[in-house]
Amino acid sequence: MVSVARTRFSQRRILVTGGAGFLGSHLCERLLNEGHDVLCVDNFYTGTKRNIEPLLKHPRFELMRHDVTFPLYVEVDEIYNLACPASPIHYQWDPVQTTKTSVHGAINMLGLAKRVKAKILQASTSEVYGDPQVHPQTEDYWGHVNPIGPRSCYDEGKRCAETLFFDYRRQHHLPIKVARIFNTYGPRMHPNDGRVVSNFIVQALKGEPITIYGEGKQTRSFCYVDDLIEGLIRLMATPEEFTGPVNLGNPNEVTILELAEKVIELCGDRSKITFQPAVPDDPRQRRPNIGLAHEVLGWTPSVSLEEGLKATASYFSKLLG
Ligand SMILES: NC(=O)c1ccc[n+]([C@@H]2O[C@H](COP(=O)([O-])OP(=O)(O)OC[C@H]3O[C@@H](n4cnc5c(N)ncnc54)[C@H](O)[C@@H]3O)[C@@H](O)[C@H]2O)c1
Repeated sequence: MVSVARTRFSQRRILVTGGAGFLGSHLCERLLNEGHDVLCVDNFYTGTKRNIEPLLKHPRFELMRHDVTFPLYVEVDEIYNLACPASPIHYQWDPVQTTKTSVHGAINMLGLAKRVKAKILQASTSEVYGDPQVHPQTEDYWGHVNPIGPRSCYDEGKRCAETLFFDYRRQHHLPIKVARIFNTYGPRMHPNDGRVVSNFIVQALKGEPITIYGEGKQTRSFCYVDDLIEGLIRLMATPEEFTGPVNLGNPNEVTILELAEKVIELCGDRSKITFQPAVPDDPRQRRPNIGLAHEVLGWTPSVSLEEGLKATASYFSKLLG
């Protein structure tokens, strides 16, 4: 009876792995708002209970402390597999565990999807393109990845997870979706994970100097979290034949210097910019081609950098007290 009612009202039971992290907590919130039952699975490696605190009392929200490198037995209709540390500081701290989370985690979640006939979405990354020789990157680009460097635990782990997703599709006809996520920012990012948006905002709120490596002419593109979550939900809702991979990110480029100036202005104009020598291997440009997402999902980011930075700065301002 319950499952009939669920189907009729399209209410589904949805598992979000990594649900206590930055993106996962926003996804759980959005899915609850859409009327679904949400099971958040997390081992709190980089995620925190604080991120999901407002959801804990929700009658359709469940939290399970579990490491996805171990098998999981639950009944769900859909799985969003987000579990994996995402910033270089975090994923390089225990690189073996990072690879295990991507690879064993994918095997375990795909096994679960197969057992309960669930649809499964993988949070992959633009890092599967490595240090790309093609700009902007389209999904048919196979990448330029170092298999033995310090970033490889993440890049190659995510590449192997994609392989597993497509093999489960070919071998077991599993309904899969693969999103290649580009730089995303917003409230609930980690304050100390070394990413440029959170770094700049935290420095500016404390009135400390903002450090730019090089001349600041290198460009980046940043997607606001609400836009990204909308993209993931639309991808999950596509017909079974559409598997991706599909790029999700914001193609609007901004120089690091422009970003620093915007952040300083937003945070009370108390910081100076200081310049340090450029970091070796720092890419000059990173930008997604989102033509496929636009065509198939009807998706383009809609939140401006100013709006997004304002919301993020307000979150960090409360966090820092
Ligand atoms: N934020 C971005 O810009 C970005 C870009 C590309 C891809 N992604 C991908 O999106 C996903 C979420 O990223 P995020 O930015 O929210 O990172 P995050 O670190 O905030 O979230 C990851 C979550 O996974 C959990 N986790 C880690 N290992 C686990 C394990 N073995 N078992 C269970 N839970 C585990 C962490 O505790 C955390 O809550 C990741 O898979 C990441 O690779 C994010």
